[in-house]
Amino acid sequence: MYIPSYKEEPFEWYKEMRSENPIVRSGNAVYLFKNNDIVKILSDYRNFSSQFRDLLGSEMINLMNTKTSPSILILDPPRHTELRNLVSDAFTPMIINSYEDKIRKIASDLVDNIRKNDRVDIVNELSTPLPIAVISEMLGVPEKDFSLLKEWSDKLATSLGREPDIKTQYEMADYFYQMIDRKHNRDNIISRLSSVELDGKKLTDQDIAGFSILLLVAGNETTTNLITNMILSISENMDIYNNIIKNPSIISSVVEETLRFRSPVQSTRRYSKIDTEINGIPVYKNDFLVLYLGSANRDEDIYKKPEVFDPYREHKRHIAFGNGIHFCLGAPLARLEARIAIEELSRKVRSFEIENPSPDNRLDSDIMYGFNKLYMKIHD
Ligand code: HEM
Repeated sequence: MYIPSYKEEPFEWYKEMRSENPIVRSGNAVYLFKNNDIVKILSDYRNFSSQFRDLLGSEMINLMNTKTSPSILILDPPRHTELRNLVSDAFTPMIINSYEDKIRKIASDLVDNIRKNDRVDIVNELSTPLPIAVISEMLGVPEKDFSLLKEWSDKLATSLGREPDIKTQYEMADYFYQMIDRKHNRDNIISRLSSVELDGKKLTDQDIAGFSILLLVAGNETTTNLITNMILSISENMDIYNNIIKNPSIISSVVEETLRFRSPVQSTRRYSKIDTEINGIPVYKNDFLVLYLGSANRDEDIYKKPEVFDPYREHKRHIAFGNGIHFCLGAPLARLEARIAIEELSRKVRSFEIENPSPDNRLDSDIMYGFNKLYMKIHD
């Protein structure tokens, strides 16, 4: 089956697949492109599992789980429910919102820095450092270690969907172990994770290290891409930017439309626990299902003119953060960071231009949509 390389925009291909081959098999993988089919699979965790380690050899499972518990992203209930309930207590929208002032200060400083130059790479100067600084601050990591964390989380993000990077996982786990201090309550996520308790159960050191690693890997590159993709999308219609300057309350809609239009996570995966069929296409036990969220978010059965970036559209709902029991736990944080980034940018920069990114600057990933570099010319 033809799959576009990372250097190409995938959206025309999705459109063709939605119309001609909305569910297609290649080997033991089944690819899905329609919104309804994808939502159905994501909602049915009993038959379509996230627990891929069940398919791995026990040697690999032992290696992966020596220092950290498996992350909630790759667990099914009941363990998923138990762990998600515990970690959710340390990562509530209220706790996340309490970081608004700190996030604004970080974003404001970054934008001040950007304004010192006529031409800047906003990936390097804004979209990347903001989420790293924010999550590091939330976890209680000292500033001197931010770049180390960034290096580790990049390595793990690159290994997503490929061979697990055990060495980096071990290094990160050791780092987080030494931050766990169950005797003192501190104002950070690791400290909160150490004390949460539900039905007499607490998180182990392995659970805490595993979840901290997940926050970095699931949160950094995704939010970086959201901010970059949003600036690119706005730059294609600067009337939107002028409207933002006049009326910043529309920024939340611009964030949602970016999530739909250039979804930072283009696909996710499940495996089938049963022999079944989906819209007449047979699916066998242990088949991999590749679910194109980025295609579901442009499905013409759901959206009018899906190929237009329109923050004012009536139907704003999308599945960029997934659906069902694995719905992104960090969605409120990603939304907050993206909103604040644009609020600060639009307060301080009146007009800008984005240089068309070259195909070589696209991320080399079949899961993420974003850019390594995106150059902004500041006019004012
Ligand atoms: C724009 C930014 C983000 C996008 C597009 C995104 C997307 C997603 C998606 C699609 C899933 C579900 C995957 C699946 O069902 O297979 C997910 C899960 C998750 N995300 Fe995010 N994410 C973003 C930011 C974040 C942030 C900032 C954090 C935390 C700091 C985070 C933490 C998580 C966690 C912990 C899960 C697993 C939830 C579970 O399995 O129950 N994400 N994310």
